[in-house]
Amino acid sequence: MPITNDADWWRNAVIYQIYPKSWADADGDGFGDIAGIRAHLPHLARLGVDAIWISPWYRSPQSDGGYDVSDYRDIDPIFGDVASATALVDEAHDLGIKVIVDIVPNHTSSQHRFFQELLASGPGSDAWARYHCLPGRDGGATPPNAWESVFGGPAWSPIPGPDGTPTGWWYLHLFDASQPDLHWDHPDVHAEFLDTLRFWFDRGVDGFRIDVAMGLVKAPGYPPMPPQHGDRHQLLDEVTDEPMWDQPGVHDIWREWRRVANQYQPPRAFVGEVWVATAHAHAAYLRPDELHTAFNFHHLKAPWNGAELRRVVDHSLYEAGLVGAPTTWVLENHDVPRVRTRFGLEAAGAALPSTNTAQLPTLEPDDARGVARARAALVFMLGLPGSAYLYQGQELGLPEVLDLPADVRQDPAFRRTNGAEGFRDGCRVPIPWTPDGPSFGFSPTGASWLPMPADWGPLSVQAQQGDPTSMLELTRRALRARRAEPALGDGDLTWVSGLTDACLVLRRPAGAGDPHVLVAMNLGDTPAVVDAESVLLTSAGDLEPAEGGGFVLPPDTAAWLR
Ligand code: GLC
Repeated sequence: MPITNDADWWRNAVIYQIYPKSWADADGDGFGDIAGIRAHLPHLARLGVDAIWISPWYRSPQSDGGYDVSDYRDIDPIFGDVASATALVDEAHDLGIKVIVDIVPNHTSSQHRFFQELLASGPGSDAWARYHCLPGRDGGATPPNAWESVFGGPAWSPIPGPDGTPTGWWYLHLFDASQPDLHWDHPDVHAEFLDTLRFWFDRGVDGFRIDVAMGLVKAPGYPPMPPQHGDRHQLLDEVTDEPMWDQPGVHDIWREWRRVANQYQPPRAFVGEVWVATAHAHAAYLRPDELHTAFNFHHLKAPWNGAELRRVVDHSLYEAGLVGAPTTWVLENHDVPRVRTRFGLEAAGAALPSTNTAQLPTLEPDDARGVARARAALVFMLGLPGSAYLYQGQELGLPEVLDLPADVRQDPAFRRTNGAEGFRDGCRVPIPWTPDGPSFGFSPTGASWLPMPADWGPLSVQAQQGDPTSMLELTRRALRARRAEPALGDGDLTWVSGLTDACLVLRRPAGAGDPHVLVAMNLGDTPAVVDAESVLLTSAGDLEPAEGGGFVLPPDTAAWLR
């Protein structure tokens, strides 16, 4: 169904994620910035996305790429200022593009006013109650429990007293030590974020992407991790009873936030980063008085396997549907390896974990198949009901950069594990805009905060523009067709029976009416025949007609047909 009501735009939007440090640098310091985004907005308008999501742009020491915020109501000087941010929102709106910004409520930066006030006061003070502070074991010498940080090492660090001497107390940080976890029992914490929501809503922002939305409340008493699990949390493990994630109390926070979003006209929207084990637990965040949508990481983690992918699609739609929510689809973001490389590795017989904290692969990806699968997966995703996310550079088919030297890597997990884990910089390499120049048009001076591979010229926006075989033109065609096609977007689907699980074919919308679209993807090793009369879009070249009717869909290919 096309969007009929502006307030419901989030139900079927295609949302493009900008990692501002790496998108476009206007002032030449090697870091992307707001002026760079403003200059390149026409790229997004031509691409045909409905909205952008901007990763954190707030004032920050940048210890975790801005996910360590020291002031939520100011812009970091490397990116610009509040006036330029507001101008960007207005300019995007003028082009018909909505703007979602990131918010990080699980933790602040240790440079945030709240944590600085904690450091300046003593145990038991009110400032301490805004964070999780506990006395250590063994007379204060050992952390309060054995929880480990997602980024490696203990999840607790000692709190020094105002004079620098040890207090014997520790603060919790599920991520880096520079990212202390907030204690959501404290009213100041609620007020800080309600003020922040209103501050940006008042400046025209259409919604927020909520970082670590399943993490804000910790189990009372900080109990040990379930024994089958170890002390180390890995995102999206199939373990459901972890004491630091998905606690019932977190849902009250989202109800409070939803009330604020509903006070605006049109109501503002939320998308949660919700890593939980099951589609069922995920759907609880999408009840009508909580978040509008949440990232579907089960989709991102699905292997190149028809039966598995179909199961993920069915579960996601079913569970979200129970609470009246649309589902979302996502193949890439700033935390996971690029889809081309992920599927290329899988085609070569390896499996690169979907979260980028684990080790680098030892195998070479099968790049040709990786490219074909990345294209097919995009066409298939854009044919599914719900909203879809694109990560910057996905429209260019950028590969993961696997060989960044250790001394340029900035992922805090890399540092915390002495280089054993933490390879997220490989998907954060700046965007190539032009075929030539030292940073391919990313920056006017040629500077770039991460080195860009020397062979990226042909992947640049300018090089791909106008080449009908390019990933850029495929993405543009697909987004144009999706907009024009009333059967796509929000709505339902039905699986077309009689085909092997290796080749998925679904019909949009469900039911017999017309117009309809068949969305097909061949995840098998042999060609499949799809019964249809015409082809609307393919991820590769034209499809051959099959003897006896229909079209031949080669392996690693997706198409929309009718
Ligand atoms: C989320 C972000 C990630 C960040 C982490 C801590 O998972 O996507 O980039 O490191 O939260 O804020």
